[in-house]
Amino acid sequence: MKVPEPLLEFLAIPSVSTDPARKEDVRRAGLWLEERLQALGFRTELQETPLHPILYAERLVDEKAPTVLVYGHYDVQPPDPLELWDTPPFSPTVREGRLYARGASDDKGQLFAHLLAAEGAPVNLKFLVEGEEEVGSPHLLPFVRANRERLRADLVLISDGAMVAPHTPTLTYGLRGLCYLEVRLQGARRDLHSGAFGGVAPNPIQALGWLLARLKDERTGRVLIPGFYEKVRPVPEEEKALWPEPHEEALKRELGVEVLPGEEGYSVLERLWARPTLDPNGVWGGYQGEGSKTVIPAEAGMKLSMRLVPDQDPEEVAGLAEAYLREVSPPGYRLEVRRLHGGKPFLTDPFSPPMRLMARALEEVWGRPPVYAREGGTIPVVAELKEVLSAPVVLLGLGLPDDNLHAPNEKLDLINLERGVAAIRRFYELLAAPSGR
Ligand code: BES
Ligand code: MN
Ligand code: MN
Repeated sequence: MKVPEPLLEFLAIPSVSTDPARKEDVRRAGLWLEERLQALGFRTELQETPLHPILYAERLVDEKAPTVLVYGHYDVQPPDPLELWDTPPFSPTVREGRLYARGASDDKGQLFAHLLAAEGAPVNLKFLVEGEEEVGSPHLLPFVRANRERLRADLVLISDGAMVAPHTPTLTYGLRGLCYLEVRLQGARRDLHSGAFGGVAPNPIQALGWLLARLKDERTGRVLIPGFYEKVRPVPEEEKALWPEPHEEALKRELGVEVLPGEEGYSVLERLWARPTLDPNGVWGGYQGEGSKTVIPAEAGMKLSMRLVPDQDPEEVAGLAEAYLREVSPPGYRLEVRRLHGGKPFLTDPFSPPMRLMARALEEVWGRPPVYAREGGTIPVVAELKEVLSAPVVLLGLGLPDDNLHAPNEKLDLINLERGVAAIRRFYELLAAPSGR
């Protein structure tokens, strides 16, 4: 497939939602989309928020036809480290059937498949596209609650994930949730000479180490926060029977590691899809420059993410984590815990009527039936859409595990864009034909 020119345009807009310097660019990406949807005959509305606009668009063709709500996001993650990209992140480039750019897979490229499939679609379409997914969708969740009537649909369709392997169409029926904290420890009021004060001064980096060590058991890999596992639902054996073959050796090779450490007693797939985890994502404190500097820093900190599974609740887990951090934090330090963002876990029926219809469309296009998978990542609004609209959700990931999401050299395989468009079109046909329902 030749890359559509407009997709190159879309990818060239550096819509990095977390970067205040890119605020205008994020907006530009939203406006660009609005124009495209208008050209396709949609009525559009750009809803301003305190951060980045939400785009709502609808094209109602026939009141008797089913209505599909398509969700996606037009914001992207920061492109750094820039020096590791083979071609610049916002100069989309095709090499060997792959399109390289920040956002190629997450999510502009996948969203674009839905723009292509919308041309002449025989169903009523609503698009809900945000510019804040990569910062936790702070304004979309209230928007969905406030607009439940307008958003009403027979099903929700989303492409913002991956197939489990090449040539393997995949229907995703679960996502993990997220609870993300920033933790800071303060010792003395200012940095101190480590000779003049070492021996009496509190060292927040050391204290952070002690704290970190109490969060997870080194031997069993279990998270030690009391109550953390209380709401975790075990995976029924019938569900595990659906899962693809374990891919442990391939995964080790891909990651360049000899072991895949994690919670004792659970398979790799279960640990990725259906068990909660805790991971420090960044730590800081003290001197990080060239050579040495003898200093005891006044402050140290870390970013801590917890991936959640049904029926854990992000707010509740944040509360448990904070209480535990306060309990085990060594005396003599000021502890500060900030809640950065969260998202509820999502789980749905893999064999709902629209899932079955999509399975048929996928089999026709790929020549093989889909596999059913959960994913370890988070899309904060999905659980909310299912709940507020009480509509079935179909997650059709068109990316691949090696797409380098959030990393240098993000890409999308063009074959999956092409087949994705064909499958979505076929799905709409089946959905519109009374016999297909
Ligand atoms: N599209 C991803 C989520 C995803 C990744 C789903 C891989 C399935 C497979 C989404 O854009 C994302 O990156 N979400 C963030 C959460 C957000 C609150 C920052 C994530 O999962 O870290
Ligand atoms: Mn995404
Ligand atoms: Mn992402």
